[in-house]
Amino acid sequence: MNYTTLDYYYVTFLVLTILTLLIKFNRNELNKLFTLKNTIMKGNEKLITVLNSLLADELTAINQYMVHSEMCENWGYGKLHAAIRKQAMDEMFHAEWLIERIIFLDGAPTVSVLNPMKIGKTVLEMIKNDNGDELKAVNAYNAAIKLGREVDDQGSVDLLTKILKMEEGHVDWAEKQRAQVDQMGLENYLESQIGDPKN
Ligand SMILES: [Fe+2]
Ligand SMILES: [Fe+2]
Repeated sequence: MNYTTLDYYYVTFLVLTILTLLIKFNRNELNKLFTLKNTIMKGNEKLITVLNSLLADELTAINQYMVHSEMCENWGYGKLHAAIRKQAMDEMFHAEWLIERIIFLDGAPTVSVLNPMKIGKTVLEMIKNDNGDELKAVNAYNAAIKLGREVDDQGSVDLLTKILKMEEGHVDWAEKQRAQVDQMGLENYLESQIGDPKN
């Protein structure tokens, strides 16, 4: 069987077409993989949403505590001012750690959302409001830890557990203040809170 020049041209054309298609296919596949790599988030989407919700709680708590702390300072309750201010600082750390974690998980931290504030008009009202919010925070962190375990995100579970322990400390503080008010009476309690915040 003899091949003509036309046959050679035909075979060469076929080989070149197949090669071109193969190169194009590989490029498309590579591009697809590359795009996919850039759109995959490191973190679970549901968990990132929950972390953002906790962030809104923390940002709200910072503001509420700062207002309460300054109101106490204005009334001359220096010790209460210092104690509540310290809690506002704790909440700032919580917000910072949550932002750091959300970014690490390739999520976008939402810092523009605040929940409604519960500003107390009296010291007792402040403590009751803060106590209620801290109990809600403990529940929210426990639920987030459960989700973190379900999606196998141990790093988030560790962080949420660290914050949970601090929130339990805040609940404990508020409960102690309410117990003291019950036991010594509001007037005696308030008298004990007057003074230099450093003492
Ligand atoms: Fe917090
Ligand atoms: Fe707290």
